Amino acid sequence: MKILTINGVNLNMLGKRGKEYGSVTLSEIEREMSALASTLGVELEFFTSNFEGEIVEKIQSANVDAIIINAGAHTHYSYAIADALRDKTCFKAEVHLTNVQAREEFRSRSVIAPAVNGVIAGFNKDSYLLALRAAVSFAAKK
Ligand code: DQA
Repeated sequence: MKILTINGVNLNMLGKRGKEYGSVTLSEIEREMSALASTLGVELEFFTSNFEGEIVEKIQSANVDAIIINAGAHTHYSYAIADALRDKTCFKAEVHLTNVQAREEFRSRSVIAPAVNGVIAGFNKDSYLLALRAAVSFAAKK
């Protein structure tokens, strides 16, 4: 089983962002996900970009069993990323470190949420680990 994790705009800056994100870095998240993936026996690929078009192209060309995506601020307005996700039939999970519903009004709307199986938000790095478990569990039931 192969799972692609996509991190979008500004997530490369984790560790140097506002206190709502804590001190976790993207490398730490990737390390913890990799450790969990090896215990679950799944292959993980990571892709990080600040560019909407690159993310769209990555989604379009992905040949994987599941996509875990934190699109950062693009979550709230990228119909292009939403359309690319909609065209993929694999399991898809949207993740956020923070509880986007409890923050500014503009963050409470995700335009990509209707194109994924589910959303996990508010558990900091554990959002990613929960999404990984959800992806593996979903694939096992198929
Ligand atoms: C975020 C939430 C978004 O609103 C924000 O723009 C981000 C990070 C999160 O993981 O909590 O960059 O996706």
